[in-house]
Amino acid sequence: MASLNFSDIQGFVLSSYATKMPCANYLLLKVTDVKACKAWLGSIIPQITTGTDRKNDFSLNIAFCATAFRSFGFTEADMISFSAAFQEGMITETRRQIMGDTGNNKPDNWTWGNDKRGVDILLLLFAIDETELKKKLTALEAGILESGGVEVVQSLPAGRQPDSKEHFGFLDGIGQPTIEGTGQKERQLTRTGHATELKAGEFVLGYENEMQKIDPLPAIAGAPEFGKNGTYLVFRQIEQHVHRFWNYVKETAITINAQAGVADQDKLAAKMVGRWKSGAPLAEYPDADPAPTGTNEENNFGFAANDQSGAKCPIGAHIRRTNPRDSLFDDPKMSTLTVRRHRIIRRGRSYGHRTEDVYTDDREERGLHFICINSNIERQFEFTQQTWVNNLNFAALDHETDPLVGQRDPNSMFSIQGCPARTRIHNLPDFVTIKGGAYFFMPGMAALLELVKER
Ligand code: HEM
Repeated sequence: MASLNFSDIQGFVLSSYATKMPCANYLLLKVTDVKACKAWLGSIIPQITTGTDRKNDFSLNIAFCATAFRSFGFTEADMISFSAAFQEGMITETRRQIMGDTGNNKPDNWTWGNDKRGVDILLLLFAIDETELKKKLTALEAGILESGGVEVVQSLPAGRQPDSKEHFGFLDGIGQPTIEGTGQKERQLTRTGHATELKAGEFVLGYENEMQKIDPLPAIAGAPEFGKNGTYLVFRQIEQHVHRFWNYVKETAITINAQAGVADQDKLAAKMVGRWKSGAPLAEYPDADPAPTGTNEENNFGFAANDQSGAKCPIGAHIRRTNPRDSLFDDPKMSTLTVRRHRIIRRGRSYGHRTEDVYTDDREERGLHFICINSNIERQFEFTQQTWVNNLNFAALDHETDPLVGQRDPNSMFSIQGCPARTRIHNLPDFVTIKGGAYFFMPGMAALLELVKER
């Protein structure tokens, strides 16, 4: 087993800080003067939280777009060692097609990360409470202003809801792989009854991955191990149309059964997610939520032996598309092995106020700052998005995409497999809209020091 260099790895790679630090803010910055920016960076680096820091009140982490590296003097010979997706950025034609960022989701409509409002650097702030967050944010913003080298393009507040539910009302953050060599496995086992422990190289560059290989290590002139202990960070600001989701669910439940009540709506919504609002998996609890007023983080289940047909958890449900577990192919072992190569660790948080009245459009924006880390953007995040979430023929389905977050086409459908017959619902509207996004690289601590050097 690889021995990880925790003091060189940024703390965010190893932890979401969600338990101790529920309040967060993301600062998206643009480089305006390289020399001044490097001087400012030099002052920030000592504040960055590493994998050995045991912070309880505040954590700070940092990541960079390819545009930042280029402005810092990285040559194309340096850049070529990074992932192609990272080099290109999220908004090229190729990436738009892979992501499904068309129609309402097209980058021209975004509030950041597009040609009009490009970003170079991401600062991630996490704090024990809003007071601490405000204090640290104010100090950082003052330093940014003084630096004369960077400016704030967007400041994005975020937070973990006290009940850990995302805006549609479902418990979030359950299905996560753990990183070998970190001790996360034991904690995950205790919490969810299951742990998918993956090779460190899936999430930390420079170590062996699930293919017994090491993903290409970014190397720059003078620093051949620049990428070591770094990772790629994917950021997508996803607006959630809560009223649209629940009105669609209500109307559709009534179309299926004129007598449908709240319990039927909740069941239909759960079929779309693959878990009940409490988090309980449909594969284990197909008929009713076993914890209607509590939480259930059970994660010790597969679909192959228990639910190959999708009669419990529909084949196209969000959790089954994003982690098909043992049901991708006929051979469950082969399926599990393949799926292990396409996992991401989600580190996002909700933004905006929660609405109590889920049927009324209060015209407030709310959603998920979807953030994930992976060593290989193409094989992990983009694969999940393109080949599973947005694939019209995922697992032999026909003309369906992820019912929660999939790209829609005019006949968007969702099949709920069942006995004696399946139910098919139609004309799913967009329940989410992409508002911004970018690919970042989160370097190790030694690489951060390389960045401030003159090139
Ligand atoms: C607003 C957007 C989204 C919402 C509201 C949402 C919501 C959820 C919920 C409620 C769960 C089940 C609880 C859990 O296991 O954590 C879940 C699981 C998951 N989601 Fe999403 N999600 C969103 C976007 C995405 C996107 C864009 C991706 C990847 C492309 C993704 C990947 C995953 C994965 C990998 C899981 C875990 C599946 C498992 O291991 O069982 N999600 N999501």
